[in-house]
Amino acid sequence: MTASLTDTRSAEHYARALAYLPGGVNSPVRAMRSIGRDPIFVDRAEGAELIDVDHNRYVDWVCSWGPLIHGHAHPQIVAAICEAAHRGTTFGAPTSGEVDLAEEVSRRMAGVQMLRMTSSGTEASMSAIRLARAVTGRTKLLKFAGAYHGHVDGLLADAGSGLATQGIPASPGVPAEVAASTIVIPWNDPAALDEAIARHEFAAILAEPYPANMGLVAPAEGFLELLRRRADDGGALLIFDEVISGFRVAPGGAQGLAGVIADLTVMGKVIGGGLPAAAYGGPRELMRRIAPAGDVYQAGTLSGNPLAVAAGLESLALLDGEAPYLKLAATTTALAEGLAGAAEAAGYEGIRIATAPGLLTVFFSAEPVTDYEGAKACDLDAYAAWCRGLLARGVYAPASQFEAWFPSLAHTPEHVARTVAAATAAFAEIA
Ligand SMILES: Cc1ncc(COP(=O)(O)O)c(C=O)c1O
Repeated sequence: MTASLTDTRSAEHYARALAYLPGGVNSPVRAMRSIGRDPIFVDRAEGAELIDVDHNRYVDWVCSWGPLIHGHAHPQIVAAICEAAHRGTTFGAPTSGEVDLAEEVSRRMAGVQMLRMTSSGTEASMSAIRLARAVTGRTKLLKFAGAYHGHVDGLLADAGSGLATQGIPASPGVPAEVAASTIVIPWNDPAALDEAIARHEFAAILAEPYPANMGLVAPAEGFLELLRRRADDGGALLIFDEVISGFRVAPGGAQGLAGVIADLTVMGKVIGGGLPAAAYGGPRELMRRIAPAGDVYQAGTLSGNPLAVAAGLESLALLDGEAPYLKLAATTTALAEGLAGAAEAAGYEGIRIATAPGLLTVFFSAEPVTDYEGAKACDLDAYAAWCRGLLARGVYAPASQFEAWFPSLAHTPEHVARTVAAATAAFAEIA
């Protein structure tokens, strides 16, 4: 029997939204089109649970796509935001909290001695690219198929995430000459890397060191080291986009895990504690090219916003020590094992579960997924049906095969158990 939840009020809001917001949403994946249903409008959330406008309660494995490593409305983060708000919401002038946050980030991220804050990950990667071009005097960029670095003009080709979800290979409106300056090669492909480096002079090699926008696809053994070497050999900067992996897979991000340090690092999500904040950073000699220390211009009215800084500082403070990371890894493992068991119990074959601490993807594929081609070859219809089945049973999983699940420190064994029960039923329904 198919489970279902009432969605009358969500449907009413959506009908109204379609008249005023393109597709009824402010960011494409929220529309849930790729899983063949209409969006769910949220009323509020607590810890690891989301409550929609129809009073349905869900275990939330999306957690706003990454910022909420402590779950929703963590009391200490909310208190920090409120305290900051009482002192003023924005000044357009420096505050000591910005320096505190930069120090905290620098303490965690091995390659980041100095940083510049922005309001979104898109801005941060756009600005890191500008700096790399200024430093090298070159234009071309090397990126990987299935990697998403925000909706920057030159980075939308084969960009994974929402574009993969909507089946959009690149976007109209991007000038051909801008698109032409980006060379895209498959992830985990040393031969393609060598060929590209031999043929072009790149300003930067840009990678998600633990890609999570084609679903979660680990770097092959030695691949990050190879990127480091080829960037050095070819005179390019290595930029790691740790907007998802930063402060999540380890305190020092994927670079910390792998021991491969980029020239520039792009950060977002966790750094803002659930408010709009992101940053790019690197060694002082590179970052001092940014205005007003240097000649590379980049600015932002709300950059380093005091509320976002307060939320980010509290979010990072709550991650101090080993315990949070051990707990996050344990929750991720329990979820992965539970979901594998659910498929087995339901007699559903043909899934592969990829995990990193705090990240997970259930690929509807009989083969391990190692690149974007593998991700695109998944059974997207089966994923969609399974995901609808989860939602109908109170489990809010990413409405796209190409997005990761985001376990948080608010998820408990009970949330995992509820998820596994729903997953078993949803697998049985599509078996
Ligand atoms: C790896 C990565 N880089 C950059 C971005 C863009 O960040 P934002 O959505 O804050 O612009 C994202 C967003 O999901 C991302 O996952």
